[in-house]
Amino acid sequence: MDRVLGGGLVPGSVLLLGGAPGVGKSTLLLQLAGRAHVAGQRVLYVSGEESREQVALRAGRLGAEAAEIRFLATDRLEEILSAVETEEADLVCVDSIQTIWSSDLSSAPGTVTQVRSCSASLQSMAKSTGAATVLVGHVTKGGSLAGPRTLEHLVDVVLHFEGQRTGEHRLLRGSKNRFGSVDELAVFRMTGSGLEPVSDPGALFLEDRPDSVSGSAVAVPLHGTRPLPAEIQALTARARYSSPQRIATGFPLRRLNIILAVLERRAGLDLGASDVFLSVIGGLRLTDPAADLAVAAALASASLDRPVPGGMAFIAEIGLGGELRAVSHAESRIAAARAAGLGPMVVSSGVASSLGRSADVRFARTVSEVLRILENP
Ligand code: TYD
Ligand code: MG
Repeated sequence: MDRVLGGGLVPGSVLLLGGAPGVGKSTLLLQLAGRAHVAGQRVLYVSGEESREQVALRAGRLGAEAAEIRFLATDRLEEILSAVETEEADLVCVDSIQTIWSSDLSSAPGTVTQVRSCSASLQSMAKSTGAATVLVGHVTKGGSLAGPRTLEHLVDVVLHFEGQRTGEHRLLRGSKNRFGSVDELAVFRMTGSGLEPVSDPGALFLEDRPDSVSGSAVAVPLHGTRPLPAEIQALTARARYSSPQRIATGFPLRRLNIILAVLERRAGLDLGASDVFLSVIGGLRLTDPAADLAVAAALASASLDRPVPGGMAFIAEIGLGGELRAVSHAESRIAAARAAGLGPMVVSSGVASSLGRSADVRFARTVSEVLRILENP
């Protein structure tokens, strides 16, 4: 969490922790509260959703760290504000903001008016007392209804807690941080006794990668400062309608369209009459342009129905001329790919001089050169 926050919680700031029901927000919050308590901070944990017994049960599962936190079961804003004063809390945890209501307002608990107004009161409480405040917010699938979306500009930091419905892994990422960047990503594993940080996610997002199936290629994007190999899958199919579908999950659609145009004009791979589906595996969201070449490789592999040679990884940005552009941190990306058991790595020749020669690195200048490598590995 420190990684995602760029150091830690800032006194007097308000952090919104958003996520779907059941993802583990309350667990993360209670573990955070426990750590802060152990570090000597005065912690007030407010639950408007769960009883003392329910939270105590969870605390028991998480171990002794959470055992001695000041706890308040209430959904009344006024009770929270007075408890923060009397407890002289350094850290205030509120689970969840959607349940908190103020008797000063006539609208019903859970309405946008209540949620916004209570958040604003908690924000000024945080500013005046210096207590770092964490608000849990439920997000529905569409991100709607008095949800965190309406609060994002009220708070200082917004973190999203996400996971695949079936898997045990959880991703924590920032979408707003008044005190630092939002590029970092933290990976956790939900265990029987709470969340454990996965300090080296290495090959985590490559698990279950299909063998010898066309349309799969590996990118090595950076998340903040950390390179993390990720699988990209593409599927192309003859379009049934005159305007073909373009669907991308975890990758910007605009960028996909540019790469498709470059493949057509610069490498003779025409997907204009095909539906194109692109997906980044593991719930990752890629914004790093260094993933371009892997996207192009996945598309070409899908379209030619020819699997990418096992273990090959692609590290380059693609220019509009079809040229491969050098990317930052090439050396650490290659090291991460190597550590994940990948190779050879196809990179732009622009980084050749800084990298030197090694047997598992192949340099290319253009996207059509890479297509030739795919056809004749
Ligand atoms: P929870 O933190 O209650 O989710 P949220 O507050 O986001 O709704 O936890 C969700 C799930 O995590 C729940 O199904 C039980 C599971 N869980 C574990 O697997 N291990 C644990 O130690 C705890 C506390 C919960
Ligand atoms: Mg909860």
